[in-house]
Amino acid sequence: MTDTPAPRPFRLALLGGGTVGAAVARRLLQHGETYAALLGRPLVLTGVAVRDASRVRDGIPAELLTTDAAALAAEADVVVEVMGGLEPAGTLIEAALRRGAQVVTANKQLIARRGEELHAVAREHGGGLHYEAAVMAAVPVLSGVRESLAGDEITAVRGIVNGSTNYVLDLVAREGVAFSDAVRQAGELGYLEADPTEDLEGLDAAAKIAILARTAWGVPAPLGDVEVTGISGLTDEDFAAAEGRGEVVKLVASAERDDQGVVRAAVLPLSLPAADPLAQVRGGTNVVEIDAVLAGPVRLTGAGAGGDQTASAVLGDVVRAARAR
Ligand SMILES: NC(=O)c1ccc[n+]([C@@H]2O[C@H](COP(=O)([O-])OP(=O)(O)OC[C@H]3O[C@@H](n4cnc5c(N)ncnc54)[C@H](OP(=O)(O)O)[C@@H]3O)[C@@H](O)[C@H]2O)c1
Repeated sequence: MTDTPAPRPFRLALLGGGTVGAAVARRLLQHGETYAALLGRPLVLTGVAVRDASRVRDGIPAELLTTDAAALAAEADVVVEVMGGLEPAGTLIEAALRRGAQVVTANKQLIARRGEELHAVAREHGGGLHYEAAVMAAVPVLSGVRESLAGDEITAVRGIVNGSTNYVLDLVAREGVAFSDAVRQAGELGYLEADPTEDLEGLDAAAKIAILARTAWGVPAPLGDVEVTGISGLTDEDFAAAEGRGEVVKLVASAERDDQGVVRAAVLPLSLPAADPLAQVRGGTNVVEIDAVLAGPVRLTGAGAGGDQTASAVLGDVVRAARAR
């Protein structure tokens, strides 16, 4: 009788050890047996690429840290990119796909700009590109439209997909805080980045709706074609006028496909009737409403950001990637 050889471990390289990367690393290190059982072989975190490897990171052993992201990624079965930014993330992802690796990313700006092209590279070389975390973090909206609603016909999607701006708008509407004070408070509480442009100008939401539209209809949805107006131009008079009409101002991302198959996407501040489900979304919560011919309206809601919440989606993609391989 011969012994069955032990299954080869599935090697995971983590590019980024910040808010999301640290949450992913902690979960993998603390629950290794769970992932081994899910995959039928051990899942090994081979390293974590960061800019500053001398900084102590809670829950990540120092020996796993490296500043050489390219060398780390070159040896992995799955490359998880959570460093953000277009470069070097784009080059690292493309290199991994060119050698047939599986790639998981949470990088909405990169996928909104280069998703088509990177998918083509993955197809050509037998790899896989997964990015559930890029849109609404743990809320499974991309797999929902791509898989669960695949046999239906989606006609429109609309939602609140940027929690930072919703937090600001909610403070104004519910607490009567002046708009400029609400922006300042959101910054102090960490709801807005040090540079809040991407959120306030609607660029974060635009990237998400472009990815969602392409996933829903399988056609290119160029980021440059999304009509975008952020909330930075709103005034206290706009909010007072909406309140006077019994309405609530929300930053709404939407996309629809017309009879000719043309997809149109937009991110706009809209004044919604108070009874609209989108008008009732509180704080940093996200929601998306998908209209499909057979299903009717389907609504998904939850935390659209946060380390653990985004790690949930990243790890779901890791399991999917490992099974695909
Ligand atoms: N945070 C969320 O709630 C959330 C939600 C959904 C999607 N995302 C996406 O997830 C990604 C990561 O976000 P995050 O909030 O975790 O960012 P973060 O906290 O700023 O972390 C970025 C990490 O990447 C590392 N890094 C950056 N550039 C690098 C480079 N050139 N070489 C090596 N390491 C580099 C940083 O190293 P140092 O630590 O040494 O600086 C840091 O560990 C972004 O694409 C973001 O859009 C985030």
